[in-house]
Amino acid sequence: MHIETVNLEDNSYPIFIGEGASLSLENFEGYIAGKDIAIVTNEVVAPLYLNEISDLFSNMNVIEYILPDGEQEKKLKTVHKIIDRLMEAGLGRDSTLIALGGGVVGDITGFTASIFMRGINFIQIPTTLLAQVDASVGGKTAVNHKAGKNLIGSFHQPKCVICDSRFLETLKATEISAGLSEIIKYGLIYDREFFQWLQKNIQQILSNDPVAVAHAIQRSCAIKAEIVAQDEKEQSVRALLNFGHTFGHAIEKLTGYGNWTHGDAVAVGMVLAARLSENMSLITPEDVQNIEEALTAANLPISLPSIDPTELLAAMKSDKKAKDRKIQLVLLKKIGEAFLTADYAKEDLTNLLRAS
Ligand code: NAD
Ligand code: GLY
Repeated sequence: MHIETVNLEDNSYPIFIGEGASLSLENFEGYIAGKDIAIVTNEVVAPLYLNEISDLFSNMNVIEYILPDGEQEKKLKTVHKIIDRLMEAGLGRDSTLIALGGGVVGDITGFTASIFMRGINFIQIPTTLLAQVDASVGGKTAVNHKAGKNLIGSFHQPKCVICDSRFLETLKATEISAGLSEIIKYGLIYDREFFQWLQKNIQQILSNDPVAVAHAIQRSCAIKAEIVAQDEKEQSVRALLNFGHTFGHAIEKLTGYGNWTHGDAVAVGMVLAARLSENMSLITPEDVQNIEEALTAANLPISLPSIDPTELLAAMKSDKKAKDRKIQLVLLKKIGEAFLTADYAKEDLTNLLRAS
């Protein structure tokens, strides 16, 4: 078992990483309040893993809440329905929510935990690669609004995160690729050597090689934990984790939530951010080529779907990082180093969107 820690003083917590990590009650001990647990999952994950997780808590009162699958569930109405159920079951402030699923279940459950009774304990058991390397760590919780993605949310840290690699065995190949998109992101914004390692190991990750997958998850969680510990509420360096996301969130919105995976949309967003960085002579054409090749090797897209560039720009303006109504973008100084800026020529951005 490998353990990373997110160091946030009173809100610090462990990330348990390893095969079978979710089967050991020890990993939950000390992170559960009271005797009531509600496990929130979805209709895909429930038949696979809900019983084994529920059975761990046979001496407690366990409620199960099974959501329909999909990004479309990330809405306030879903949160309201979960809260209705918690109220009906008489759960109080000393209960614990467990998110068992991908980033969608994690974001909805975390947000619910943050507002139910003004905030209760919650535990993340991420079951997708993307959620294990990114969404379950760092305490960002949210649902979508028709104006844009993740616009209603809160920062609410889990008590612990349990990344069990067994769950990845049932994932579709497209979801492994989606996770790789965020993994490649960490290399690009923070760790050149990790990016170089990924360039050589993408096939191993796609084929679920346990050693390569374990390294990718551990390094990604370590980088995310390091960044979140420096800037929990995204006042500075945490914004870099949104590399490619301003474009990506707009793509997700305009293609209709759920039609593009988050990872696919972020992949195209990272290519656009890299090309803009190249236009500004920050990185070289060879760097851009390496990025595109890595994403293509991970079976991720590198060009925009047919979207009107004007609509894309408009959608990007509702990004949470927008400042004085100007879109701020994360760009690359070099591979392994990113920065946030609003200091780019708007014309360059418009031309880029037209050409991509
Ligand atoms: P997802 O939750 O929709 O899961 C992808 C698909 O895999 C779904 O169909 C799901 O039912 C299925 N699935 C989950 N676990 C499975 C398993 N073990 N076996 C088989 N199928 C399984 O998508 P995701 O990529 O995990 O997460 C994307 C979401 O995460 C987006 O809403 C995004 O905004 C959010 N996100 C949040 C953060 C954050 O910091 N909070 C970071 C990144 C992404
Ligand atoms: N996924 C971006 C963040 O957690 O900050």
